[in-house]
Amino acid sequence: MPMEASECYLNGTFQPLSQCQVSVLDRGFIFGDGVYEVIPVYGRRVFRAQDHLARLSRSLSAVGIKSPQQAADWLSLVRELVARNAPDDQCIYIQVTRGVARRDHAFPHGVEPTVFMMSFPFPHLSMERRSQGLVCITAPDLRWRNAHIKSISLLGNVLARQLSVENDASETILIRDGLLTEASASNVWLVRNGRLAAPQRDHDKLEGIRVSLLEELTAELGVALEFRPVAEWELRCADEILLTSATKEVVSVTTLDGESVGAGRPGPVGQSLYQAYQEAKRLQSH
Ligand code: PDD
Repeated sequence: MPMEASECYLNGTFQPLSQCQVSVLDRGFIFGDGVYEVIPVYGRRVFRAQDHLARLSRSLSAVGIKSPQQAADWLSLVRELVARNAPDDQCIYIQVTRGVARRDHAFPHGVEPTVFMMSFPFPHLSMERRSQGLVCITAPDLRWRNAHIKSISLLGNVLARQLSVENDASETILIRDGLLTEASASNVWLVRNGRLAAPQRDHDKLEGIRVSLLEELTAELGVALEFRPVAEWELRCADEILLTSATKEVVSVTTLDGESVGAGRPGPVGQSLYQAYQEAKRLQSH
């Protein structure tokens, strides 16, 4: 289905994406003043909806935007949008900005937030790319220190991602003060001696919805997992590196900065987590 034909939601009305319009004075456009979510939908069922909506509510309160909906109302809007769009597997994008106001950095008074939601077909990674694993590069993390907020101000992430495009890579893994933070649009995990490690949750990275999901899956699989500072050098001698995100699910990185990761092919921990993720999708979508 062409993107233009998809139905979206803007400030209380469902309408075709091609007809959706917002003011150029919207603070999302002027300042990047807003937050967002990307929620996966499999077989028309929303995956981990509560977790995504809880994070949306945390992001809104972190930037001082009053949530325009209750959690239950968000869920019915998401479900309605899924129903109005054709693909069985979709991603629902939600964006809430501080609203339309005369340009002034200070928060405006008496302005309603702008709520925009759209659906796009789930961008499944091909099995071929999964079995080859991804090529990634590293770069310094130059973003602001509130990366835990899922803010629409994504210039730092955009520039980091573009660096990977220019280097024929799929993602840019970010390093701050010699430590791994995350990648431009995904969380990063590494495996050494069968143990999985990921950086601790803090303001330097987004807590992906897959972070607590992988905690559950590793417990089921009996894989040891620790959240701790991960040094850049550890990435360079990891047996496996994994990325997680709503759209990538769990995927192995097999080349980092031109060097093979481990044996240069997806490893056993990544493969079993991918299988467990597929099972979780089957069981938990609602
Ligand atoms: N990005 N870190 C960053 C910077 C991200 O942008 C994302 C997801 C993640 C993983 O979070 P989750 O598991 O909740 O998807 C981590 C989405 C998919 C995006 O911006 O398109």
